Order: sequence, then C-alpha cells, then structure tokens
Amino acid sequence: MSSIGQLCGLLGLAALATASYSNRPDYARRFPYAAPYDQSFLGGYSILKHVGGLGPYSNRMSYGIGRDPPDGCVVDQVIMIKRHGERYPQGSDGVKIEAALDKLYSSKITEWKGDLTFLNSWEYYVDSEGLYGLETDTGPYNGLLTTYKHGAEYRVRYGHLWDQNSNKTVPMWTAEFERVVQTARKFGEGFFGWNYTDSVALNVISESADMGANSLTPVCPDDHLTQTCKSLSQDLPAFRVAADRLNRQNPGLDLNSTDIYQLMFMSVFELNVRGYSDWTDAFTMDEWKWFGYTQDLLFYHCAGPGSQFAKAVGAVYANASLKLLTQGPEKAGTMFFNL
Ligand SMILES: *[C@@H]1O[C@H](CO)[C@@H](O)[C@H](O)[C@H]1NC(C)=O
Ligand SMILES: *[C@@H]1O[C@H](CO)[C@@H](O)[C@H](O)[C@H]1NC(C)=O
Ligand SMILES: *[C@@H]1O[C@H](CO)[C@@H](O)[C@H](O)[C@H]1NC(C)=O
Ligand SMILES: *[C@@H]1O[C@H](CO)[C@@H](O)[C@H](O)[C@H]1NC(C)=O
Repeated sequence: MSSIGQLCGLLGLAALATASYSNRPDYARRFPYAAPYDQSFLGGYSILKHVGGLGPYSNRMSYGIGRDPPDGCVVDQVIMIKRHGERYPQGSDGVKIEAALDKLYSSKITEWKGDLTFLNSWEYYVDSEGLYGLETDTGPYNGLLTTYKHGAEYRVRYGHLWDQNSNKTVPMWTAEFERVVQTARKFGEGFFGWNYTDSVALNVISESADMGANSLTPVCPDDHLTQTCKSLSQDLPAFRVAADRLNRQNPGLDLNSTDIYQLMFMSVFELNVRGYSDWTDAFTMDEWKWFGYTQDLLFYHCAGPGSQFAKAVGAVYANASLKLLTQGPEKAGTMFFNL
C-alpha cells in the first residue's frame, strides 16, 4: 500500500512539473492520473456500426472541422441538410422481407431451436401495411424523437440567429415525401417550439425526376448506376455459413444466403422500432461485418463519392449554399434548414 502511495506522490509531482506546457488539454493538469489521450476505442462490438444507413444513428469523435467557432467568433449563418430520422422499411423492401418470413414460417417448425429459439415468441414489428416507409415513433431510437432532439440541439447552438420578435416568417424546406415532411415538422417543433407554425413557412419541394437537379432529391437522367447497385449480390459466403447453421439447428428449415440477407436487413429496422432485436444475436459479428459491407458498397457507389452523378447533382446544392454564405446574413438570411 505504501509504495502505491509514494507512486501517486511522484506522478503528482510529474504532472505539476509539466503543467506549464501549453499544448495540453486542460484536464491533463487537474488530476495526477489524468491521461491526456483516451486509450479506449469504444464500440467495436456495437451492432450499430454494422448496419449502414438503415439503423439507428451513430456518431463519432474524430478529425474534421470542429463545429464550435474559434474564440471571439460567432456563427452568423447556418445551412443544414437532413432527410429523415430512423424509419420503417420501405414498402418495396417489405415485400422481400415478408417473402423471407413466409419461407421461415412455411417450414412448419413448431419448436424453434438454437440461435432461433427466440422465434417461439417473436413477432414481426410491422403490424400494419400503412407503417411501411414512415418515420418510427416508438423505442429509444425513434426517428421522430431523434429529429425533435436535433431541432432542440440546434436551438441551443444557433438560437441566437432567430429573432422571435421580428414578426418575420422563417422559411424552411422539405421534400415532398410523407416521412420527410414529418421530419421537417418535428425538427421545426424542436427548434422553434410547439407553435412553430406561427414562425415558419414550410416550402415543400417536389421529388419528381423532372425537377432534375433543382430539388432536395436531385437526379441525373443518365444515371444508370442505381440499377447496377441495386442488383449487387447478396449471396455472400458469410451468409451461406449463417444459413447452414440455422438450417442445421432447425431440421426442415431451408434458408439460403439471400434469405439471410433479408432477415438481417429486416432486423436492423427492428432496432428503429423496438430499440432491440432478438435477431441481432442470431448472427455472428463476422456475419454482421459482411452485412455492413453490403451497405457500404451500395452507398459509396450509388449515393456517395463513388458515383460521378452524385458529385454532379450535389454540386448544385453546394454552389447555392456558397452563394448564400457569400451574400451574408443581412442579405440572404441566417437559417436554412432543409429536410
Ligand atoms: C409584431 O406584430 C404585432 C401584432 O401585429 C405588433 O404588435 C408588434 O409590434 C410587431 N412587432 C414588431 C417587432 O414589428
Ligand atoms: C408561441 O406561443 C407563446 C406562448 O403562447 C407566445 O408567447 C409566442 O409569442 C408564440 N410565438 C409565436 C411566434 O407566435
Ligand atoms: C434463395 O431462395 C429464394 C426463394 O426462396 C430465391 O428467390 C433466391 O434466389 C435464393 N437465393 C440463392 C442465392 O439461391
Ligand atoms: C456555380 O455557380 C457559378 C456562379 O454562380 C456558376 O457559374 C456555375 O455554373 C455553378 N455550378 C454549378 C455546378 O451549379
């Protein structure tokens, strides 16, 4: 015990001796054992890292431009783009999901075993067709709540840009798609308060392809990549391994790799609805990593930097934003919320 006490004393001195170095985080000086660099990289086993853009929002602390302005500066204009929060699967995906579930249940297994034991009591979370495609409104990751909190957080950060007493209507923009309009409303309530409709005029922009690049959902008529991307193979070796395992544990079951993909896809959205999914543990971390990879490929090549068309249509938005920033807050306005 006493040697530990002495060690503390020595380290305390060492910390004091270096306290005058300026290029150190402030907390490094406060406690003798405070390590200036975090030695943990958390969340390696979190399912949320392997669900692409389908599941609950996830964040990280890393490099890039900090959001807080430097000392002595304030933000005087803000331009934000977001589409929606956590949601239910699309109707078109619902068809594929239900086909996979039908295949599961048509095996007529009466007592599920092994990794699928939970199926003895599990029920699908979409209990009405009408829910497909909507923002979720239940559970800890519910999309409407995420979006409300986003608005409320922006009020804290950028509330100084809103003059409540000016009687001036603040324009907001949204794309003409039900869940996206719902998102805009929730964001508006989060930022402007419950009577936000008194303060905001919501401009609803058509999603029609004939808007070309002049919308919040721009498209290029010559973009044929999307079809290529949509037909990326889901028949991956890791999913065959999963199918073999579940079939072996449950004689009579005849799942294949693409059924596994559909079931994993389905279960990710269960997180958006219920906050947990019994399916998560039916698959191994290796299988989830491959699932995440399918999403990374899709988004990179079809909706991200891997697509030449994404750059072309995104440039219009970037350009318009630059113009507003160049004009400045007095001429152009202070807040541009696009959802
Ligand atoms: C806003 O409108 C109200 C009601 O018309 C009026 O009494 C008030 O003076 C206006 N405020 C400003 C800052 O123009
Ligand atoms: C919102 O409601 C509050 C409380 O009734 C009121 O004081 C405020 O003026 C309203 N805001 C707007 C923009 O109408
Ligand atoms: C798996 O089975 C479904 C029909 O149950 C079929 O549509 C699909 O092509 C099969 N996948 C593979 C990789 O054979
Ligand atoms: C960006 O704006 C500039 C000047 O307004 C214009 O010349 C250019 O064509 C625009 N580019 C895009 C991609 O919209």
